[in-house]
Amino acid sequence: MPVLGLGTWKSKPGEVYDAIIEALKIGYRHIDCAKIYGNEAEIGAAFTAAFEQGIVQRSDLWVTSKLWCNAHEETAVIPALQQTLKDLCLDYLDLYLVHWPVAFTAPLAPKTAEEYISLDELPIIETWKGMEAALNAGLTRTIGVSNFSVLKLRDLVSKAKVKPAINQVELHPYLQQNNLLDYCNTEAITLTAYSPLGTSAAAQKVEGAVLTTLRDNPVLTSIATKHACTTAQVLIQWAIARGTTVIPKSVNPERLKQNFDSINVVLDTEDMMAIAQLDAHFRFVDGTFWTMEGSPYTLANLWDE
Ligand code: A2P
Repeated sequence: MPVLGLGTWKSKPGEVYDAIIEALKIGYRHIDCAKIYGNEAEIGAAFTAAFEQGIVQRSDLWVTSKLWCNAHEETAVIPALQQTLKDLCLDYLDLYLVHWPVAFTAPLAPKTAEEYISLDELPIIETWKGMEAALNAGLTRTIGVSNFSVLKLRDLVSKAKVKPAINQVELHPYLQQNNLLDYCNTEAITLTAYSPLGTSAAAQKVEGAVLTTLRDNPVLTSIATKHACTTAQVLIQWAIARGTTVIPKSVNPERLKQNFDSINVVLDTEDMMAIAQLDAHFRFVDGTFWTMEGSPYTLANLWDE
């Protein structure tokens, strides 16, 4: 799995096609997709064009997608993956992830609490059996999960026939997830960092204090100045230096190139120690959207903390 990939969450139809073609020309060989992003058909059209034009061969590309929460029944997994493959114009994925440890019946997101299905009613291991079946059918080369805590990973590892290869979670200097990283290292599970640039979110209020955006954080900007690079490049290289894989999103050609060039930035021990101090246990994607009144999901049982 190439350590640096392109995220496509919030890459809108109408702009994602050009972004994929540009990224592949720059040298990206890892594209992170998901059914719920609503742009897989356009990404598929870009893959088809890129293969036809000889920009890249399928065998040189790593493509990830994710199972949406409305297809957690064991028998629903393969049909959901087949639809994603059809949209992406591919005959196999490199990685398929369970997008959230959350299940429901609504096609996008529940509007009422009754649409949720608790993990007691539909345990993750049932979904995982469907993932293993998809792997055995050759529809994906590897399987994994996303937004999983140590507790949920441990439980899955103890029950699964095939161990999850990857856990994709929000990861950046304000949410360093050291315990999760340690656990994944001991189990040889790769941790992938989503929202590594802090998404497009503005400055946040945390316990009354203002948390600047990551890109405006003075520690990070001074490290960027020291290495004559950008703060985004510091953030991406920080993720790589910690041994995680990282999927910054961009649809802008210059920023795509800049982000790709982060692989050449070298951070020293002093930089890593200074960044370690920035952990604020702060989530931009905090999961409150799954916790409406009456939902079986709470922030406590979602993140297990
Ligand atoms: P854009 O797509 O217009 O480049 P994350 O990966 O954490 O979700 O962050 C994505 C956000 O960061 C998007 O708003 C994206 O906008 C922006 N972005 C991506 N790369 C850079 C960069 N090198 N410098 C500044 N902003 C960036």
